[in-house]
Amino acid sequence: NARTRNVIRLMDERLPDDIIRLLKSAGEAADELGYGAYVVGGFVRDLFLVRSNEDIDIVIEGNGIEFAKKYAKIHNARVHTYEKFGTAVVIFPKGFKIDVVTARLEYYRFPADLPIVEMSSIKLDLYRRDFTINTLAIQLNPNRFGTLIDFFSAQKDIKEKAIRILHNLSFVEDPTRVFRAIRFEQRFGFTIGRLTSGLIKNSVKMGFFQKLSGRRAFNELRQILEEENPTPAVERMHDYDLLKIIHPDIKPTRKLIADFTAVKKVLAWHDLLFLDEEYLRWTVYFMMLIRQFNKQKSNEICQKFEMAPKYQVIFCKERFIADQCLYWLSFNKSLKNSELYRELSGFKVELLLYMMAAARRESIKKIISHYFTRLRQITTSIKGKDLMAMGIKPGPVYREIMDAVLDAKLNGQIKTCEEELDYAKVFISLTMNT
Ligand code: CTP
Repeated sequence: NARTRNVIRLMDERLPDDIIRLLKSAGEAADELGYGAYVVGGFVRDLFLVRSNEDIDIVIEGNGIEFAKKYAKIHNARVHTYEKFGTAVVIFPKGFKIDVVTARLEYYRFPADLPIVEMSSIKLDLYRRDFTINTLAIQLNPNRFGTLIDFFSAQKDIKEKAIRILHNLSFVEDPTRVFRAIRFEQRFGFTIGRLTSGLIKNSVKMGFFQKLSGRRAFNELRQILEEENPTPAVERMHDYDLLKIIHPDIKPTRKLIADFTAVKKVLAWHDLLFLDEEYLRWTVYFMMLIRQFNKQKSNEICQKFEMAPKYQVIFCKERFIADQCLYWLSFNKSLKNSELYRELSGFKVELLLYMMAAARRESIKKIISHYFTRLRQITTSIKGKDLMAMGIKPGPVYREIMDAVLDAKLNGQIKTCEEELDYAKVFISLTMNT
């Protein structure tokens, strides 16, 4: 009762050759063990949405761990196994990973009234997933390689751009799916189906979210803020009265939307200029979300979400120092480079980006971007050993000399290494003789 068709041509067109080879070889390894093998979920969904996705999930009808070990051996890959869950991760020599799960009937706990008896294990595995669009599977065994299996009208829902759950108890089983529905809806420009939307409203009303640990709720919120453009998803959270899980006072006001738009712009600016610089983009959005709250309230939010201490430091301490600095900058606009550097060098990338987005005046944004693009990278070429060679005894004075040299360099007074050395010598002779 599944719709099937062969999608080899589509796979050939849209997937890189090495991925196809890996999938074929998975089917062959499974065949040798007498198991069914399928690539499932987001990977298949994104194949149809023409979005690249390298998160491959393979479901094995049989012993997934045994399969993973055999598959890993063929490719000289490492394998991590989780016996308790029958899952494994195969890690290829170049770092590429494939997740393997076992489709085993005894793992599924279902509400009593659901008809499970006649389901194959792959069908059951797919049935317990969140939305129809995530239930596509492509068989990998050689004689059926490329057969698309669609049990739950996934293709129709992809065509109709609809996010739909598979059964009415889906959100009861796993309330995090409410956030996932919103995330997928906005990411793909889809719409949450009518029945699904009603069930979301119902589960919010009934307070299913109270069952969710702070950590899990936060994890979902973080993933929403990690999306390319989280603004519409935050508005959707408001539609479903979900922003209250952060704090009842958070509303998508014009101000908040403008702040989010400013963050998006600043992050795009950053990513264009500093392609390889890693940072936590969601933290910049989160700082905007809780911008109206004082330290105590921010602290309460961090506690509720069981946030790791490094995030608490950002949200409850550094954010306030950044706001103070912004205020200070608005009164001190004609700063020397060295003064600006001293003010801003203590801030992490995330905080600097927050400040740029939060600064209302263009002139202040410019000052911060000047630091970010030009001053931030400047260091002295001379090192401690150069001072040692001058016969200076190591001690706190080294810091003083280096700071003075850096200041002069930042202010454009000196450029070359020789000039730095000369500057250090003069500085030493002037300060040490007094
Ligand atoms: N899943 C689920 N319920 C959840 C989380 C995940 O049913 N609460 C299922 C989904 O069907 C999904 C699969 O587990 O296809 C893998 O989860 P994940 O990697 O989070 O999903 P993706 O769809 O790949 O999402 P993303 O593109 O954001 O990684």
